[in-house]
Amino acid sequence: MGNIGVIVGSGLSRLQSSGEDYSPNIDITPYGPTSASLRQHELAGKHIVVLARHGQKHSIAPHEINYRANVWALKTADVNIVISLFTVGGIGNRYGPGVIVIPDQILDYTQNREHTFFQDHEPVTHIDFTYPFCEALRELLIHSSAEANVDVVKNGTYAATQGPRLETSAEVSKLARDGADIVGMTGMPEAALARELGLCYASIALVVNHAAGRGQGVVTGSEIENVYAQGADRLFNILVAAVPKAEQLGFELPDPIRPGSG
Ligand code: HPA
Repeated sequence: MGNIGVIVGSGLSRLQSSGEDYSPNIDITPYGPTSASLRQHELAGKHIVVLARHGQKHSIAPHEINYRANVWALKTADVNIVISLFTVGGIGNRYGPGVIVIPDQILDYTQNREHTFFQDHEPVTHIDFTYPFCEALRELLIHSSAEANVDVVKNGTYAATQGPRLETSAEVSKLARDGADIVGMTGMPEAALARELGLCYASIALVVNHAAGRGQGVVTGSEIENVYAQGADRLFNILVAAVPKAEQLGFELPDPIRPGSG
């Protein structure tokens, strides 16, 4: 049985700022340093390993995050279940500010990010990514939300954009035509790297603003901060309900595909 990891995005500072260093050596990986030290917390009587995706001081932009180091360090800390927290913009009608989503699909628009552990790798290795989130963990998060009395939308397609700028309204219209429901900047390559290392990875996403052109006027920081403040407690309550059960979670991920090596 492995550990439970939580990758914390913008906010949820009560998890980011407390806790003990997990193990200082784990923060330097073959891929470079992680965004922040891994920290060990007790949540609902269980140990979890927490990583602040943007760094302890929120100083690392989405395109600057060392996703490979972060995912590698979690694996090295014996994590096998990863709950990843995101803030996102909402595109579809069901995804207004304040809504919490357990996404089930991904569209990747990121560029020039180190996005694989299978670089110069022999034999050539592919992962199946038909269902990019670990279904067993998604189901657990959905059940835990109900248990914690927190309404969630049980599915949604997450579009990962490059950032750090927000999108134009035409770009958001294109994302909508492509089938995206929510948009963020950090879901990829994080989710794919987790799959490459065999981690059961799923996400809880809090919609903090209408994506560009979907609300009134432009997107503002104060709008985002307000929603985050209101949403953080609900995210936390889902985690408190999910963590004790995540420890016993059984899951299966597709085997890596190595053409020609069998
Ligand atoms: N676009 C991209 N990323 C985001 C947004 C958005 O509107 N809101 C929060 N993260």
